[in-house]
Amino acid sequence: MENWLYCGDNIEVLEKEIEKESVDLIYIDPPFFSNRHYEVIWHDEAEIRSFEDHWKGGIEHFIAWMRPRIEAMFKVLKPTGSFYLHCDWHANAHLRIMLDEIFGANNFRNEIIWHYDIGTAPKKDLKRKHDTIFRYSKSNNYVYNEQRISPLNPARYNKKEPNGRKYFIRGDSGKKCYLDEGVSPDDVWTFVREKSLRTLNSMAKERLGYPTQKPEALLERIIKASSNEGDVVLDTFCGCGTAMVVAHQLKRKWLGIDISPTAIELVEKRLRKSGAVKDEHYKTTGLPTTENDSRKLKPFEFQNWVVAKMGASVSRKKSGDKGIDGHLTDTPWHERAGIQVKQSDKVGVGVVYNFETALRKRKYRQGYIVGFSFTRGAHEEVAELKNEGELEIKLITVQELLEKRKTLLK
Ligand SMILES: C[S@@+](CC[C@H](N)C(=O)[O-])C[C@H]1O[C@@H](n2cnc3c(N)ncnc32)[C@H](O)[C@@H]1O
Repeated sequence: MENWLYCGDNIEVLEKEIEKESVDLIYIDPPFFSNRHYEVIWHDEAEIRSFEDHWKGGIEHFIAWMRPRIEAMFKVLKPTGSFYLHCDWHANAHLRIMLDEIFGANNFRNEIIWHYDIGTAPKKDLKRKHDTIFRYSKSNNYVYNEQRISPLNPARYNKKEPNGRKYFIRGDSGKKCYLDEGVSPDDVWTFVREKSLRTLNSMAKERLGYPTQKPEALLERIIKASSNEGDVVLDTFCGCGTAMVVAHQLKRKWLGIDISPTAIELVEKRLRKSGAVKDEHYKTTGLPTTENDSRKLKPFEFQNWVVAKMGASVSRKKSGDKGIDGHLTDTPWHERAGIQVKQSDKVGVGVVYNFETALRKRKYRQGYIVGFSFTRGAHEEVAELKNEGELEIKLITVQELLEKRKTLLK
């Protein structure tokens, strides 16, 4: 089996593309109803549609939306497989009951509490500072690799061997416990004890800049506990791909699904950037691969797709950021550049003029316009600008973008 990224609704991908009983570990972090604006992450049509779809009628509707998806995940899990569902107080009670029904209450393994450091500060309630991660196995025969972490109370190790190793003697078993051997983690994972489990603040190195990204250390704990090298890890709501990146680092195979083309483009970029994962290490499906596919995208999806393909960040405002649809930081000129996206043929000189104005306002000296084709007037204007030497605009066709991705990125 190869590593795959699928862009599509997970239920369809699970049913059509993924073999029954082929996956060792599933981790999911579905979007739940914390806050409507917060939960729509990518702002592309596919994600918004999916989000609205599962929230039309409140919690019962959400559970009814999730149930066939979890059942489809259950089917692709090997009999020895494990399943982790990441959620919070909004839906955890409902999800737990549903999981007991699908997996069998006897296959419930843990309710993990992830205690983090950010959150709201309500006036008349306790602060909500944890998520819940339910862990299930498919049968009694499942993988569990014990890990070791630093002890909570090092002062307890108050005896010393002649070679200096610190230990204490357990009262119940009389066994010597050494400080340097660490302890097995319990079901409360807290940033107080392990700094790497902090939520990703705006300064975090691994942060890609969207709110639900999970820390790599969290995924590392889960993947190490419930899979071995060479095993297959699946995330059916993969977002920006934390599970994929960590699975790869830990020499697992992986499958990632997300309904948002923006998310999948971002995962691709992240995998490539991480250096460990080359294009030939994985395949992507569900994203447009031909000009014709891209013509079928909804306008906002098209814009997101182009911008992400250019390796740039999307302007958040739906109406466009004063004539600039995306911003590139990683340009051959080592300066920021703007991107203008047109889902049309024969993009004319008027578009170039407007884009020039937008770039000048932003004090950008470079920009790209992407469209299916350009008029002669547009080409002439761009050539003139180049001669003047003050502003450089490149016209890129979708076809070129599809064929020469690498040269455009770097
Ligand atoms: C909370 S985010 C996951 C974040 C991820 N754990 C990370 O660290 O990057 C939820 C994701 O589910 C995706 N999604 C929503 N509905 C979906 C569906 N029906 N099929 C596949 N993905 C879906 C959204 O596009 C979003 O990226």
